[in-house]
Amino acid sequence: MPAAQIAQNEEVGTLLALVQGLQSQVRSQRSELDAVHLKAHEAELKLRQMSAALMGAQEQERTRVAAELQHSVGQALLLMNFGVGGAIELTRSGDAVNATEKLQALAPQVKGTLDEVRRIALGLRPAMLDDLGIVGTLSWLSREFRTAYSSIALRTEIELQESDLAVALRTPIYRVVQQALDNIVKHARATKVSLHLKRERVGTVLEIRDNGSGFASSPGAEKSAALGLGLTGMRDRVEFSGGQFRLHSAPGQGTRVQACWPLSSEKWEVGPDARMAA
Ligand SMILES: Nc1ncnc2c1ncn2[C@@H]1O[C@H](COP(=O)(O)OP(=O)(O)OP(=O)(O)O)[C@@H](O)[C@H]1O
Ligand SMILES: [Mg+2]
Repeated sequence: MPAAQIAQNEEVGTLLALVQGLQSQVRSQRSELDAVHLKAHEAELKLRQMSAALMGAQEQERTRVAAELQHSVGQALLLMNFGVGGAIELTRSGDAVNATEKLQALAPQVKGTLDEVRRIALGLRPAMLDDLGIVGTLSWLSREFRTAYSSIALRTEIELQESDLAVALRTPIYRVVQQALDNIVKHARATKVSLHLKRERVGTVLEIRDNGSGFASSPGAEKSAALGLGLTGMRDRVEFSGGQFRLHSAPGQGTRVQACWPLSSEKWEVGPDARMAA
């Protein structure tokens, strides 16, 4: 083969190798791009599911509040309206004594309705969170709990200052504590409960433990769609506010509910032990 032909063949070979190298680079970048697309698609799907769940939860909450207003406050106001109407009639007919008696009988009903409105408002979002902050509100909630359930020893430890905490985290923290305590009263048959809110290197950590009956929950159960409304609500509130939710429970070993709102995107690691110190 003439030298010129050999040189040409070598050049073609080099070019071919170059083209193949470029092709493989394009392929690998293409598959990287596909992976990024897939991740973006999954993230969008998750976001859609979360906002659908949030809307569903809001709708459920509105229905519950509407029913409560209608049944308790609405009915009470209706009865009081009759009472006031009766008193007006009596006044018109000059029977001031009976009119006064009727109005006096209404006073406790007015007070009862006022209490009911306060109770409903407290369930929606305690005004106390704005006045006392989360530290004061959790102390108040703990006192109320101890008064109502004297057979359960509740230990509350709050190791942070109000100023350490973003205002937006007050409601999710309050809700998680409220739901966790509600579950303990309803399901756990516990004698000891600990409520711990602290500032750690990773962020703000909330933990509620009990030494009660526990229940079968596998690692990662907090991701499951099969949780009850209370646990799902807790998980969603924590995640919607940028936190991570963990649930550890096993029959006979108590329950530990944890939430962490990281300061940065650092991964939050927790041990699997659900048991409470005796
Ligand atoms: N601290 C606990 N101790 C024992 N069992 C628990 C505890 N917390 C939750 N559970 C179990 O997990 C289930 C789901 O709890 P979840 O709060 O989601 O729903 P619920 O309390 O049954 O109903 P809801 O909260 O909607 O009124 C409970 O029915 C109970 O069996
Ligand atoms: Mg519950």
